[in-house]
Amino acid sequence: MTAIKTTYAVLVICILCLLISVNLVNGFSKDSTCGGTHGCWGDCDGGCSFLLTWMSSGSGVSFKMKTSLSSNADQWAGFGISTSASMQNASVSSCLMTSGSLAPENSYNAASGNTNSVVSNPTDGLSGLSADFTNSIMTCELTRSNTNSDPEVFDLTTDYYILFAKGTLSGGTKNQHTFTDKTNVLVSFQSTQDLAGSVPIIKPFTSILIMLSVFQIVLFSM
Ligand SMILES: *[C@@H]1O[C@H](CO)[C@@H](O)[C@H](O)[C@H]1NC(C)=O
Repeated sequence: MTAIKTTYAVLVICILCLLISVNLVNGFSKDSTCGGTHGCWGDCDGGCSFLLTWMSSGSGVSFKMKTSLSSNADQWAGFGISTSASMQNASVSSCLMTSGSLAPENSYNAASGNTNSVVSNPTDGLSGLSADFTNSIMTCELTRSNTNSDPEVFDLTTDYYILFAKGTLSGGTKNQHTFTDKTNVLVSFQSTQDLAGSVPIIKPFTSILIMLSVFQIVLFSM
């Protein structure tokens, strides 16, 4: 009986470790500031492949974009804000990685069609850049002022759907995205809601874990 219990305990521990590592294999874990000091949105059911965090800082909003990249080739990642829940008529802030160094850029998605153009003064209203690319994860922090004289750089005090995209760069210019996601609710950058998804043990596995725990209790009480 003791041997069975030991084998069973080892098995449960192995499964737990496997589930946790599978969840994090293609990404990174959610920031602990989510929903506390920072607002967050990402695809973090388990590990995140991208995460946008924000915090209002008076006259602007400090953003942090974090995303896993499949190579160190020249690439970009960016978030768009739009009241239309589509990529059209969206104001976009991106980070462009060229030869490993990162630069911020504001651009605009046209109200019709699927085109994106860099705005006239691409870094106007952007400050405090801090960027890093380590272990295939790009991290890019920037502060964007709440208001901008360019109508294509939207005001950050109203609520928007957020879009996230990433893609390759050619000669320093963004190519069409290869990955996109968007929120299904309007989001306020002046608040700190957590839309990033659940913590590393993801829902489908939770029932398995409960089942294993119940079996374990039954077995150990025998
Ligand atoms: C584009 O979006 C902005 C901000 O939500 C809005 O003020 C403007 O009227 C929109 N323009 C068009 C053409 O829909």
